[in-house]
Amino acid sequence: MILDCDPGHDDALALLLAVGDPRVRLLGVTTVAGNQTLDKTTRNALKVLALAGVGGELPVAAGCDRPLVGQLVVAEDIHGASGLDGPELELPVGPVATVHAVELMRRLITGSPEPVTLVATGPLTNVALLLRCHPEVLPRVRRVVFMGGSTERGNTTPYGEFNVVTDPEAADIVLRSGLPTTMIGLNVTHRALATTEIIGEFRSMGTRLGAICADLMTFFAGTYRREFGFEHPPVHDPIAVAAVINPAVVETFAAPVSVELGGTHTRGATVVDLHGRTGRAPNADVAVSLDVQAFWRLLMTAVRALGAASTQPARR
Ligand code: BDR
Ligand code: CA
Repeated sequence: MILDCDPGHDDALALLLAVGDPRVRLLGVTTVAGNQTLDKTTRNALKVLALAGVGGELPVAAGCDRPLVGQLVVAEDIHGASGLDGPELELPVGPVATVHAVELMRRLITGSPEPVTLVATGPLTNVALLLRCHPEVLPRVRRVVFMGGSTERGNTTPYGEFNVVTDPEAADIVLRSGLPTTMIGLNVTHRALATTEIIGEFRSMGTRLGAICADLMTFFAGTYRREFGFEHPPVHDPIAVAAVINPAVVETFAAPVSVELGGTHTRGATVVDLHGRTGRAPNADVAVSLDVQAFWRLLMTAVRALGAASTQPARR
């Protein structure tokens, strides 16, 4: 797996799940501008990897600092000025690769003996650029799983979800690429809520990592309450990783999905034809339901294991 992300509170949990679940072979992490500017999302990814105890062990490359078309509008209202506000996260971090994220992805895919799954939890800018600049890698990509879009309403505009609204052209390129693509939209991610019990479970792990996850989710809860009036915040991004680890975590439905690229009020909306009205062939497996308990079990197990490993005395 390669994880392309824009941390981001929920991206941080996606990273922890990808690092902490023994079934994932994480080849590298790439970053994109989205929740915050590229320098901040990259720094945040490095911090999370350091917290997970793998700082410097995985290649990390920074990618696009803006959408393919249009201006970057960050989600400071949700993720704060740093993109990962809440806990104190000053710690030594590993290095950033000297190559662009798209080049790192190309190298990792080309060098992998097995086809690679691309998981994207931010705007799809890097992934789209990879597919356009290096079409020769397409046969070596097993599938793309992205958090974005919705079969229902949006969270950034009435019908647009943040990752797709931020870079609609990139999402359109990915959805037209012909690659097997799974869409994990708001219609399922809004079921995975970091409730008081979930935050308590992180804290009661008794590890630094568990406490940091609890603090991250407490901050996230505050902004979701203020901005959307949600009682508990939805933890979107780790569901994309969970769906790769255990496909049974989500139920999917093969459907035609288009991205609205024009639209006076709907640019960036995902138009999901669940009832075959367009007569078009399906181009995505769209998540339509979530096994909430199975999802949290996967995530908690990974965070517990990482937290316990990082509190053990260093091996000589
Ligand atoms: C998506 O937008 C970001 O704020 C989150 O990290 C997630 O990837 C949800 O719409
Ligand atoms: Ca994200």
